[in-house]
Amino acid sequence: MNRITLIATATFGLEKVVKNEVMALGFENTKVSEGKVEFEATLADIPRANLWLRCADRVLLKIGEFEASTFDELFEKTKALPWEDIITEDGKFDVNGKAVKSTLGSIRACQSIVKKAVVERLKQKYNKEWFEETGPEFTIQISMLKDVAVLTIDTSGAGLHKRGYREAGGEAPLKETLAAALVLLSFWNADRILIDPMCGSGTILIEAAMIARHMAPGLKRGFASERWPAIDENYWREARLAARDAILPDRKLQIFGYDIDEKSIAACRINAANAGVGDVILFERKDLKDVWINEKYGIVISNPPYGVRMSEFKEINEIYIAIHKAFRKKWGWSLYILTADEMFPKYFKRARPDRVRKLYNGKIKVDYYQYYGEKPGYGDRPAENDMPDQPDQTASDNLP
Ligand SMILES: C[S@@+](CC[C@H](N)C(=O)[O-])C[C@H]1O[C@@H](n2cnc3c(N)ncnc32)[C@H](O)[C@@H]1O
Repeated sequence: MNRITLIATATFGLEKVVKNEVMALGFENTKVSEGKVEFEATLADIPRANLWLRCADRVLLKIGEFEASTFDELFEKTKALPWEDIITEDGKFDVNGKAVKSTLGSIRACQSIVKKAVVERLKQKYNKEWFEETGPEFTIQISMLKDVAVLTIDTSGAGLHKRGYREAGGEAPLKETLAAALVLLSFWNADRILIDPMCGSGTILIEAAMIARHMAPGLKRGFASERWPAIDENYWREARLAARDAILPDRKLQIFGYDIDEKSIAACRINAANAGVGDVILFERKDLKDVWINEKYGIVISNPPYGVRMSEFKEINEIYIAIHKAFRKKWGWSLYILTADEMFPKYFKRARPDRVRKLYNGKIKVDYYQYYGEKPGYGDRPAENDMPDQPDQTASDNLP
């Protein structure tokens, strides 16, 4: 099994971000479709893809793809695939899946046919009638779209958003994969100031710091395929060593997180320390109304509370007004706001958003409003325009 096809699954709207990540890892033949990015690789690449992809949900190993409009066809074509190349004699396996616009609409029936076909194949190959399923786990997925079945085995195990650093959660935390994508979709880079004034459990800022320090997001967790004999354990060892070597531990950053809730700030500190970036993010309990920015240029990435999940309308309204007051005249600041509330742009009147991206936070449809600030060096605006109404403490007082 030299050349293989891997599929990095992606939340709707993030396919291109994942494609860029896949290409940055050196994979060339990529194919993007809704919810996934396919690419050619070798078994040795499975560790690297799992360790490094920040915005993908999972990495699946494609075993086969074929047309099937009857159960017999599904059974025979599934049985013809080389499952024994990956699934061991003692392997424990389950089948899950989805079916969209297909004649075989009952996904439960499809799953059961696939399971039977794989068992039949393994019986023949291992010359055995009964499998105890006590060994490594293999989760098979069947995905039916317009009568075409794609059969895969999940190499990741727990979803890639589970980095292993977030033990303490604030209210309504973002998935780490989405938080990383928000950073990658922004103009932020390691030389610029970054603030999340409603940082919750700190996910956006922690992901940003990990990006800036070249830290592989999967370095602190395990993966299902780590126990597969088909993947030489040296591949894993080498990929982990290379990921450790890639870290830039001394890279100084200017990242600030605020939240009105003391417990959230305590959680941020624990999470950032777990992630290995506790030394570069300054977290402080602060009401958004008191955030005072004395720097001319910077980036804000945040997701305010929104009604469907948390606060009441009045509170949200006040938050929008506070964002507006703090940033309306900050011409050098770019603002990136993720919210499910379509009313948001009505309150932030600095300008129309330069770009709005439709994304999903779990099952909730959200918009990512992007307001681009002037580039550093522009400097034509009168200085007083940069001053919000009431100074409190300046972000620059805290610069490391
Ligand atoms: C949707 S959550 C942010 C979640 C965060 N992105 C994460 O991944 O954990 C919104 C946060 O806004 C905070 N918040 C609400 N009102 C605030 C205010 N007036 N000033 C600062 N933070 C506020 C809440 O405490 C909550 O943690």
